[in-house]
Amino acid sequence: MMAFPSPTVRPSERLSSVPLSGIRKLFDLATPETVNLGIGEPDFQPPEEAMEGLRQACSEGRNKYGPTNGLPALRRAIAEYSSRYNKDIGESNVIVTPSGTAALMTIMQAFVDPGDEVLLPDPGFVVYRPHIMLAGGVPVDYSLTSGDFQPSLDSIQEALGPNTKAIVVNSPSNPTGGVMDLERRRAIGDIAADRGIMVVSDEVYDRFVYEGEHHSFLDDTENCIVVNAFSKSMAATGWRMGYAMSNVEAIDEMAKMQYHMTACPNTPMQFGLLQAMPCIERFISEMVPVFDRRRQLITERLKGIDGFHLEPPRGSFYAFPSYDADIGSVDLAMMLVKEGLISTPGSAFGDAGEGHLRFSYATSEEMIEKGMDILERVAATL
Ligand SMILES: Cc1ncc(COP(=O)(O)O)c(C=O)c1O
Repeated sequence: MMAFPSPTVRPSERLSSVPLSGIRKLFDLATPETVNLGIGEPDFQPPEEAMEGLRQACSEGRNKYGPTNGLPALRRAIAEYSSRYNKDIGESNVIVTPSGTAALMTIMQAFVDPGDEVLLPDPGFVVYRPHIMLAGGVPVDYSLTSGDFQPSLDSIQEALGPNTKAIVVNSPSNPTGGVMDLERRRAIGDIAADRGIMVVSDEVYDRFVYEGEHHSFLDDTENCIVVNAFSKSMAATGWRMGYAMSNVEAIDEMAKMQYHMTACPNTPMQFGLLQAMPCIERFISEMVPVFDRRRQLITERLKGIDGFHLEPPRGSFYAFPSYDADIGSVDLAMMLVKEGLISTPGSAFGDAGEGHLRFSYATSEEMIEKGMDILERVAATL
């Protein structure tokens, strides 16, 4: 007897069409001494109120299934928290999801049919392309302007076609640190409205803006679905809690898909978050200035390294410098790991990411200094 997967029981063609990211293998080379500027999560712990709320929920027996769309009280709290972008948002415009990633996946499964084209940024966050493909859709890249990493409107216009169903946007951006300006925010909203297509706006870094301001797509729930998560804003990546917001009909469609994927989001975690919602502004106001100092530090250091080029990132917590050396980003990242520094090769985020490295500065200033010392040393040998 042959165990499966086997010639007769193969993974689905859908799954086989999606490559597994090779980055993990690179990270496996790290030792405990390696400086890790690869990881995309805050080094803070979630607010104490969230942990207390979670403990209480568990010990008081709130360990059961809950509503598919999430706890009404949490949805109301999220709507109120998001009212800065649209004061008309209410509970029925919000669905709580088991992470930002799950929200993105659910949207693609709920709205994309085989053959539908979905535009996505190149470079862009790693899950967009596979999520589109797993829904049977066709990913179509659009480019970003160099240096400040704005979505190129020309490139979006070129990528649009009769089969376009949606445009994915991400500001502040992973991996580039770019923050979309108001003009582009408006232009993309107009394109969606004119064409009758949907904007999927990934705003998980909305609170991590250091220069300028965040222009949410939430003011246009007719044409847009906004994805957010507590992973970054409450430093709770391991809790796997996110949410999406849009018009009621779109949220209902997502809920139908979410029911089949997972029945409901995690109940005790939602009680934990609910307890922390009144403290979220305080928490963010303590965390974000720390990130801003780190951003300034890594920007200064990168600017001082020969052959590396960077415009100051304005949001998220990544620096995405380009480099002159004639070496692929995977090979360069590999060289750096061997010298004790983890970074992420730009090519992991799409073809246009080649010639860049991504450094996360969600770690201590000491680690950033150490990492940049290693980079400086390696860069001098290129
Ligand atoms: C741009 C972007 N969107 C979504 C996510 C996913 O967030 P979550 O951890 O909630 O799944 C991440 C995580 O790194 C991200 O960088």
